[in-house]
Amino acid sequence: MTGDDDGHAAHRVRHPDVVAAIKQEVERGFGLGGPTTLEAEIAEEITGRFPSIDKVRFTNSGTESSLHATRMVRAITGRPKIAKFEGAYHGSHDALEVSTSTPLDQAGPSDSPNSVAAWDGMSRSAEEDAVILPYNDRESVELILREQKDEIAGVFYDAKGGLLDVPHDFTRFIREITEELDIPMVMDEVVTFRTGYAGAQGLAGVEPDITYFGKAFGGGFPVGAIGGKDRFMEIIDNSGEPTGLSQSGTFSGNSFTLAAGLANLRALTPELFEQFDGLRERLHAGMAKTFDGAGVPAQILSEGAAAAFYLSGKPVRDHRSMLEGPDHELTGRVNMGLLLKGYSLRGGIQFTISQPMGTEHIDGLVEALEQVLAEA
Ligand SMILES: Cc1ncc(COP(=O)(O)O)c(C=O)c1O
Repeated sequence: MTGDDDGHAAHRVRHPDVVAAIKQEVERGFGLGGPTTLEAEIAEEITGRFPSIDKVRFTNSGTESSLHATRMVRAITGRPKIAKFEGAYHGSHDALEVSTSTPLDQAGPSDSPNSVAAWDGMSRSAEEDAVILPYNDRESVELILREQKDEIAGVFYDAKGGLLDVPHDFTRFIREITEELDIPMVMDEVVTFRTGYAGAQGLAGVEPDITYFGKAFGGGFPVGAIGGKDRFMEIIDNSGEPTGLSQSGTFSGNSFTLAAGLANLRALTPELFEQFDGLRERLHAGMAKTFDGAGVPAQILSEGAAAAFYLSGKPVRDHRSMLEGPDHELTGRVNMGLLLKGYSLRGGIQFTISQPMGTEHIDGLVEALEQVLAEA
């Protein structure tokens, strides 16, 4: 995020605990054929952190995790369809890469969005088996789920859908309605884990049936993890009678990923999240004041270590308002201006605060934004 020299940037992506953990694995040996005690150690870290999780399985990515979670809920319920929210990305596979970024002229009614495959080459059943839900529209979500509850194997849910204005109350509503209708709720915490010590579920105070993770859980190495209550996880436990569903992967749970992930998770303490909160609030307030001062309408969304801005006068609460609301041309110019000052924004609008950052980095960014807006 900062325009410092390469030496500083390198330090920022090499947390000393992660580096030490990997060095230790190099010495201990790698490319092992079976599980190691590291798997138990990181599982304990995860189950201690997330009350919704009794057991954990590792994969190599968020995509792989959501793919296996899809099979799990289908196998558990015997139902064919997967419900997900319009605009939410859960990984690159046919069951879930549907209605992730549908153009508005193909999206259908906002209260019952069309199911639209994201890419050519996807199976026809991808669209047939997907049920698309609108964010922040309780009435429509309830209607769709009630109508199709006997066909829906699970509701996949990202509590922020990128970074949308989705209140915790909506997350609690999704938990309540899925519980009432007996539909498994699968929470995607691949990105939202950065919003709080126990992810978005911790902030909303909900316990999904299955959760999956990626990104930060590997401390920079390829990772995915699926966790949940015993009664959901046992479908992939073939240590006794065959369950009918197996989940495995050659590099799942490899020692570099586990060691780096464990060191990273241990470093992400509640105190560090408090530090993120302080910096993020400073960034949020600084951006709000700057956009306001420049007379540029903007929506700023932030939680935990994550922040984003949309150059729009209206709240950005779903996929449609994200496409329609913001001034994309001005956003592009602001991004280019910031890039020329040494600040590269993820996806053009997003920030993640990390451990080595301090107030000087936040203030530097806000100052750069002020200059860019003055020039624009
Ligand atoms: C919310 C969300 N879920 C799932 C994924 C897929 O994770 P991976 O890229 O590790 O396959 C991503 C990736 O960006 C994501 O943002």
